[in-house]
Amino acid sequence: MRTRTLYRVSAILLATATISVTACKKKEAPAPPAEVNLRDRVSAQIQVIKPVEGLNPDRVALGERLYHDPNLSLDGTISCASCHDITKGGDDGMQFSPGVGGLLGGVNSPTTLNSHLNFVQFWDGRADSLEAQAAGPIENPVEMANTFPNVIAYLESEDSYVEGFKKAFGDAEINQNTITTAIADYERTLTTLNSPFDRWLEGDDDALNPQELAGLQAFMDVGCSSCHQGPGVGGTMYQRMGNVKDYFGSLERSLDETDYGRYNVTQKEEDKFRFKVPMLRNVAETAPYMHDGYTDDLGEIVRIMALHQLGQNLEQQQIDDIVAFLGTLTGDMPTVDIAALNLPKPRAVAPADAKDDEKDGEEATQEPEAAE
Ligand code: HEC
Ligand code: HEC
Repeated sequence: MRTRTLYRVSAILLATATISVTACKKKEAPAPPAEVNLRDRVSAQIQVIKPVEGLNPDRVALGERLYHDPNLSLDGTISCASCHDITKGGDDGMQFSPGVGGLLGGVNSPTTLNSHLNFVQFWDGRADSLEAQAAGPIENPVEMANTFPNVIAYLESEDSYVEGFKKAFGDAEINQNTITTAIADYERTLTTLNSPFDRWLEGDDDALNPQELAGLQAFMDVGCSSCHQGPGVGGTMYQRMGNVKDYFGSLERSLDETDYGRYNVTQKEEDKFRFKVPMLRNVAETAPYMHDGYTDDLGEIVRIMALHQLGQNLEQQQIDDIVAFLGTLTGDMPTVDIAALNLPKPRAVAPADAKDDEKDGEEATQEPEAAE
């Protein structure tokens, strides 16, 4: 009995001592909670999105109009925003996007939000700047199916545009260069700030709930951030789809040229199936996923990624946690007041000389947009 009591007393004493030692320690040098270490680890690979500074507001305003104006397309029906709705994640939620005449492109529309963070543009990286990219869709037969001479003639016929270009570019003429510069500068304003993840990264411990935090931990531990990194959580490198386990052979469809990715640009065998690693910012808003818009199911993509890119079979719990974490990458969506843009009325009829191009377009339905 006595020994027991003694034991108990000393146990209590010991416990008290431990507590006071810990308390003491805490005062002098606070033991870092686990999240702080995780935060350092994450920060080394993924950074907070920052707004782009120093943009010319007149160019941005002009670019915003051009981006939303369907009259830049051959028949006045399709604008950049048709496929890249900035209020809905910067894409259109479809597997393949219909352009002029309903023709479909061969790959899924990526988001334009934060697109300046991409080291190159397009799934295969064939444009090295937003300016170079913006020229593509205007003349792509399955997108806006127009020509620059047409677009320039249209813009020169509209006083509001003539004024807008003058404000933005002074005496420089309205040409492909000034048009794409304005659009690209507008795109540079489409940053999605203030996501829960960014708030957490900046020190707000409450910005992520325990499941989201577990998902972030898994994202790091499993190795997703070896490819999806930088402020865009992607967009910084090319990688092979099927990095450690063949992916394309596992698909229940036959392959086509669009699956070759970077190879279409370089014709190098080692570039087959290599794609720009997509950004994961706002990914919860940009289904369907992958270059072929394979599925809307983000959990399925997480499973595929772990298996084919990293050789790991994830537990369902880990998949759910990572999906929860990916949801915290959604920031404040940009907004647009279409009425305030005061766009010219839709042009009912396309110029006669451009109509021939429409026929060319139909033949191009099956082509990937390599022509851009
Ligand atoms: C008919 C639908 C459609 C229209 C219209 C369209 N795009 Fe796209 N956009 C796409 C598709 C599809 C891709 C991917 C093509 C590829 O990678 O081969 C893309 C890619 C992009 C990218 C690259 C993003 C990335 O992550 O690589 C940007 C930026 C972009 N478009 C901006 C624009 C702008 C600016 C306009 C208007 C001038 C425009 N788009 C018009 C469908 C469209
Ligand atoms: C070896 C590099 C690599 C690793 C590691 C990797 N990914 Fe990817 N990820 C890619 C590439 C490349 C694509 C585009 C593939 C395609 O479109 O066919 C992609 C696409 C995605 C997409 C679809 C995005 C979209 O907008 O369509 C998601 C989501 C994704 N990855 C999440 C993850 C997660 C979660 C992990 C960790 C389990 C991970 N990735 C690991 C390279 C990688």
